[in-house]
Amino acid sequence: MRIAIIGNGKMGQVVAALALRRGHVVHTVIGGAENAGGRAITAERLKGADVAVEFTRPDAVVANLERLIEAGVPTVTGTTGWGEELPRIAALVERRGGALLHAANFSLGVHLFLRAARDLARRFAGRPEFEAFILEEHHAAKLDAPSGTARELQTGVRAADPLRPFPITSLRAGATPGTHLVAYDGPYERVTLAHEVRSREGLAAGALAAAEWLPGHRGVHTVEDMLFGGGE
Ligand SMILES: NC(=O)c1ccc[n+]([C@@H]2O[C@H](COP(=O)([O-])OP(=O)(O)OC[C@H]3O[C@@H](n4cnc5c(N)ncnc54)[C@H](OP(=O)(O)O)[C@@H]3O)[C@@H](O)[C@H]2O)c1
Repeated sequence: MRIAIIGNGKMGQVVAALALRRGHVVHTVIGGAENAGGRAITAERLKGADVAVEFTRPDAVVANLERLIEAGVPTVTGTTGWGEELPRIAALVERRGGALLHAANFSLGVHLFLRAARDLARRFAGRPEFEAFILEEHHAAKLDAPSGTARELQTGVRAADPLRPFPITSLRAGATPGTHLVAYDGPYERVTLAHEVRSREGLAAGALAAAEWLPGHRGVHTVEDMLFGGGE
């Protein structure tokens, strides 16, 4: 496949390197300096690209998605921190008959973890002696907090146990690519379920798998749709 990479930061670089190792062609790489407001994303520049993979910043992603969808390129984005704009972007995808897959976290394990967390929440429901909380930790340069994955985790466990608030605490320090945990703390014991990213390659591999899957799947998709077909 010919893949356009939008954003040449930590994730963009790992995705590009892995794409080449898997025999794909990197059609173009569009970095921040040339692309204010998405201006480098033109039909001409993207001509011949089968799919785009976008990892930029919360303040850049929406303009990039608009331009990519207008150009008719199926787009995978992993950028976080723009959830409130999703309905508007989804309407644009619908109008244009485009394809978009978005995910706050592309690792396979995290999606199994999110399901396990919902199961665990159901088991602890009605046990007020345990206090439940969420903790997420990322490298110091991450711009948004709480992380998109922590929000998704919170939404899921709240649905499974509506009586608990599941407050989120975010830590930004050091170089960790991403850790999420949900804990049930009782007077004599603690139960913890955690997911820890060890390397960005797993995230990049998930984004590439999404890029391979997306062409031909019109509409707005999540990585859950791709992995589990939308079922529980
Ligand atoms: N879904 C997942 O699995 C996953 C995994 C890791 C990270 N993320 C998210 O993905 C995003 C990127 O993460 P990262 O670790 O790669 O961050 P990063 O290393 O800071 O890279 C972001 C890159 O985006 C570039 N950029 C900014 N505005 C742009 C624009 N308008 N067009 C093109 N490029 C632009 C920046 O270039 P300049 O420096 O030149 O501005 C920078 O190189 C963040 O939102 C992060 O939370 C998601």
